[in-house]
Amino acid sequence: MNIEYLQQEIDTIISSTIQREEKLQAICDVLENQISYYDWVGFYFKNGDKNELKLAQFTGEPTEHTIIPFGKGICGQVAVSNQNFVVQDVSAQDNYISCGWKVKSEIVIPIFVEGKNIGQLDIDSHTVNPFSKNDEELLESICKKVATLFS
Ligand code: SME
Repeated sequence: MNIEYLQQEIDTIISSTIQREEKLQAICDVLENQISYYDWVGFYFKNGDKNELKLAQFTGEPTEHTIIPFGKGICGQVAVSNQNFVVQDVSAQDNYISCGWKVKSEIVIPIFVEGKNIGQLDIDSHTVNPFSKNDEELLESICKKVATLFS
């Protein structure tokens, strides 16, 4: 992956004049397009004042898991832990919500606005063990940029 090119594309999306929802969709599309082992890319956000996540924009196969209670699955755990969660092999996880047999690994990065965890970027891969520190760094940097759209 060409990280510099990707970051430039993300910057262009963030600073464009389109609606926030369209920006989030464009970010999902770019990531899914540019990184071969990203097979599903989506944003979940806290659903109002409920302790649950609600699916927002995504690229990839539709999922029935549009609402995820805090604590449930990888996403729900990140809503509570406020930490990145890198799962190199989903079959080794007990607290995991499957979005289909093809998914082998997952990475979830929280998004913070003024220190509060408002949601997350969730990526599924059909490959086992695909993620490195570079993915975490890239996605953390994107989540910081996304956070600016909410403040
Ligand atoms: N696998 C996630 C559920 C969401 S899907 O990946 C789109 C989880 O365990 O929280």
